[in-house]
Amino acid sequence: MADFDSVTRAVIPAAGLGTRFLPATKATPKELLPIVDKPVIQYVVEEAVSAGLFDVLMVTGRTKRPLEDHFDRAIEVEGALEAKGDDQRLTAVRESTDLATMHYVRQGDALGLGHAVLCAKRHVGDHPFAVLLGDDMIDERDHLLERMIEVRARYGGSVVALMEVPTEQVSMYGVVSMEATAEDDVVRITDMVEKPPIEEAPSNWIIIGRYVLDPTVFEVLEKTPPGRGGEIQLTDALRELADRDMSGGGPVHGVLFKGRRYDTGNKLDYLRTVVRFAAERPDLAPEFVPWLREFLGNR
Ligand code: G1P
Repeated sequence: MADFDSVTRAVIPAAGLGTRFLPATKATPKELLPIVDKPVIQYVVEEAVSAGLFDVLMVTGRTKRPLEDHFDRAIEVEGALEAKGDDQRLTAVRESTDLATMHYVRQGDALGLGHAVLCAKRHVGDHPFAVLLGDDMIDERDHLLERMIEVRARYGGSVVALMEVPTEQVSMYGVVSMEATAEDDVVRITDMVEKPPIEEAPSNWIIIGRYVLDPTVFEVLEKTPPGRGGEIQLTDALRELADRDMSGGGPVHGVLFKGRRYDTGNKLDYLRTVVRFAAERPDLAPEFVPWLREFLGNR
């Protein structure tokens, strides 16, 4: 049966190797790469918390211990800042500690996103939960996750976030086919396929890294064979749930997101995100933006 509990738990897969950013990610988890001075992962946890999800489970792996340290106290640094009376930096250091109740589980083998989500089974139990992928940042002014939680409360089942992209990009994502509902920004998913070749993509609507999942997804994931790339794919499990009605843990709806998403998973988009955030920071923009204009004017 669908469980109409309110959604209070967030699962954040963070076991990926971050090979695109080597050598920066040789000894530092990619999730700790900063957008100016705050790591990507902190933005993601803040997004979960602002949607009311105070219980956060991070699925980590070997070499990811610095992630745990980031959300823990930093007694030495705090002591030094306290002694100097630097309250502003002290607040900044403590912010990540007080944010949420953090839990960690390790994914021993990197067997895919579906497998990472399955690692959350024991912690999540029989409750609906959200999954947030760290490569995508959603602007805090856009409230996507809140909208997805509302949609789950209305229709049951699971909810994915969708964005329209140019055809040449579809093969990097899960792609859906869908039908309209009575609500403009909500669709019912009829099919989905993980990273299809362009000619097999059912549409230009791709799944971005936000999900609200019915716990039935765990049973399905346990039986989901490796798919694209030899990995257990969350998309494949959701495809099965999309065919079911509420008594079987389905259906799957999509929220059409037209807001601001920042991709931090590749170098070019990461750079765009850093520049954009710097240009919007009241403490940096007055010097940074004129410098940037002049720099570009001279190119
Ligand atoms: C994952 C999912 C894919 C989704 C994407 C969003 O892929 O498997 O369906 O579209 O995240 O970022 P990954 O980027 O981990 O390869």
